[in-house]
Amino acid sequence: MAGSVFLIGYPLKHSISPVFQQAAFDYYSLDIRYEKCETQTAQLPEVVSRLRQASVFGANVTVPHKEKVIPLLDEVDNLASRIGAVNTVVNRKGKLIGYNTDALAFVKALREDAGFYPCNKNVALLGAGGAARAVIFALMEESVKSITVFNRTPGRGVDLVASVASAAQSTKLSALPWQRLVHNGVLEECDLLVNCTSVGMRYSEADGESPLMAAMIPKRALVYDLVYNPEETPLLKEAKKAGAQTLGGLSMLVYQGAASFELWVCKRAPLDIMMKYAREALR
Ligand code: ATR
Repeated sequence: MAGSVFLIGYPLKHSISPVFQQAAFDYYSLDIRYEKCETQTAQLPEVVSRLRQASVFGANVTVPHKEKVIPLLDEVDNLASRIGAVNTVVNRKGKLIGYNTDALAFVKALREDAGFYPCNKNVALLGAGGAARAVIFALMEESVKSITVFNRTPGRGVDLVASVASAAQSTKLSALPWQRLVHNGVLEECDLLVNCTSVGMRYSEADGESPLMAAMIPKRALVYDLVYNPEETPLLKEAKKAGAQTLGGLSMLVYQGAASFELWVCKRAPLDIMMKYAREALR
């Protein structure tokens, strides 16, 4: 029987997930279509209820519905529930189960693509939205020493830190306003600098911009930009000028998608194929 997997979010025009997920289904000759389903918030309950149909394997959920989808599901796994965000839904015989594959994908890319082991490291993190939240949980699970959040809207950074503080065991958390990025010692001492803002993302308001210039980037740090389009972002260009090691967001995108694929069809994701198609889709 032909089946489908939905991509639920808004807007979805620039998403490349359909390209590399379809390539993975086709690799196994599975009769499954990965379908974009642009969904406004008011339509979310109706779209989610369609996931219960026998022909639907599940969905990816993206901005702005990762939090709002939770009350519409029957079960949410432990990590997704602690993060408070679901990016993958699986339909198990009419029962909808939510997962978060972003957090583990973030750490997998750190270890496997940059050779970086987060335990006991100091992290400077830019941004305080949903992506930042998943990254903070992932890093706390890895027992980083400290995370300092910098956000343009300072109250949002403070709220984010306060909302995850109870889950912090050994990790020291703090939030500072964006203006304090310069000369406060945090950047100079960080081992890892992560951009969880959309600055530099193609088609966004800040397309072509870098959140930091080379002079502010410590040479000793790994600079990890979650933005994957373009593959070499303005921040990564600045980091290279500064002599720092860099990691782009494409492998995290593909790893989270691969983990979703494995949850839907219980087969090993063809990672190389997915990465190849993702790269081609960006060109
Ligand atoms: P996501 O779920 O992808 O994280 P989001 O919740 O919209 O998306 O968060 C986007 C993040 O990028 C926020 O931290 C946002 O800062 P504000 O909280 O001040 O809005 C940040 N951001 C977006 N555009 C920015 C810009 N031009 N300069 C600095 N930060 C920006």
